[in-house]
Amino acid sequence: MTKAKESAYILKLRRKLTKRFDETSHFEKPEAIEIAKQVLKAQIDRHAQERAAKRQITYTTYDKNQHPASIHSKYIKHLLGQLGKPVFLHLPEDAASHEKGKRAAARAAAALIRDGMTVGLGTGSTAQLFIEELGLICQKGLQITAVASSVHTAELAKKHQIPLADINTLKRLDITVDGADEIDPKLQMIKGGGGALFREKVVASMSGTMIAIVDHTKLVKKLGAFPLAIEILPFGYLATLEALAKAGYRAALRMQGPGATKPYLTDNQNYIADIQLPASLPPLTAIERELKGIVGVIETGLFLNIAKRAIVGFPDGHTEELNRK
Ligand code: 5RP
Repeated sequence: MTKAKESAYILKLRRKLTKRFDETSHFEKPEAIEIAKQVLKAQIDRHAQERAAKRQITYTTYDKNQHPASIHSKYIKHLLGQLGKPVFLHLPEDAASHEKGKRAAARAAAALIRDGMTVGLGTGSTAQLFIEELGLICQKGLQITAVASSVHTAELAKKHQIPLADINTLKRLDITVDGADEIDPKLQMIKGGGGALFREKVVASMSGTMIAIVDHTKLVKKLGAFPLAIEILPFGYLATLEALAKAGYRAALRMQGPGATKPYLTDNQNYIADIQLPASLPPLTAIERELKGIVGVIETGLFLNIAKRAIVGFPDGHTEELNRK
C-alpha cells in the first residue's frame, strides 16, 4: 500500500471507530481493540510502555499472550479510554513517521524565532519538539523570553534552558507556537486533547502571531472527528453536563485515567468534558457561542481565527505552510 493510500485507509477506519463509539455506549473492550488493531495494523511492541511513560500516556493493555498490544493514536487511545479500561495503543512505524513530521514542523517554527522575541510555548507532543528545538537555539545564544501554556511545558522549558517569564508580567507576546488535534483549511482548530486548552488559548490570544505546528495527519477538511474538549467548572459540573446534553452535545467527563473514579483536573483545577460535535456541523462560531453561553463552561478547545500560520510536517521530513487569508 502506498503511504498516501495507507493514510486514507487509516483515516477511514478512524472515522469508523469514532462512529461506532458515537453510536453505542456498549462498546466492548475486546471489540474496540480489534477495530483499533485493524485501524493501525497492530503490532506487539515491548517498548510501548516505556515510550508511553516518556510521553505521559498511561493507557496500557495486554493481548491474550500478555504482550502489550500496541497501536499508537492519541485519538483512538482517547476513545478506548472512555471504555473505562486501560488501553495503550502504539504502532512503531506510524508513530515514527508522525514524529518525523512533527519534528520537521517544530524545527521550521523554531527557526522563525528571533532575538528579543516574547514567545508562547504550547503544550503536547509537537509543542514539546518545538521546545527541544528552541532550547538548542537558546543554548547557542538566542535571547528570548518565553511563557508556558501549562505546568508540564514550564518544566520542559526549564529542562531545555529556555528563559521563562511569569505570564502576569506581560501584556502581549510576539509569537506563540503550539500543536493542534485537528486543523482545517481556514486554520480553524480543535485543541485540548492534552487538557491545556484554556491556558493555550490565553497564551495564543495574547500573541501577535500564532503558528500551529502539526504533522499531516492533523489536516482535516472539516473539524469534528476529534472530540472537542471543553473546560468546565467542577462546581455544579453535573448540571453543566446536563445543560450540554440538552443543547445536543453528548459530553463525557474526562477521568484521571482509564478506570479512574476521579475526574481529570486541568492546571486551573477545573474539569474537562469531551464532546462529540454533530455530524451536520453548524457554523463553528455558532457552536463556540452556544457552548460559551452555557453556565459552567469556562472555555472550549475551538480555536477560531487564532492561528495565522500553520506549518505542516510530512513523514519524509518536508514541511508545507498554510496561511490564513
Ligand atoms: C493540548 C493540545 C495539543 O496541542 C494538542 O492536543 C496536540 O497535541 P499533540 O501535538 O501531542 O498531537 O491542545 O491541550
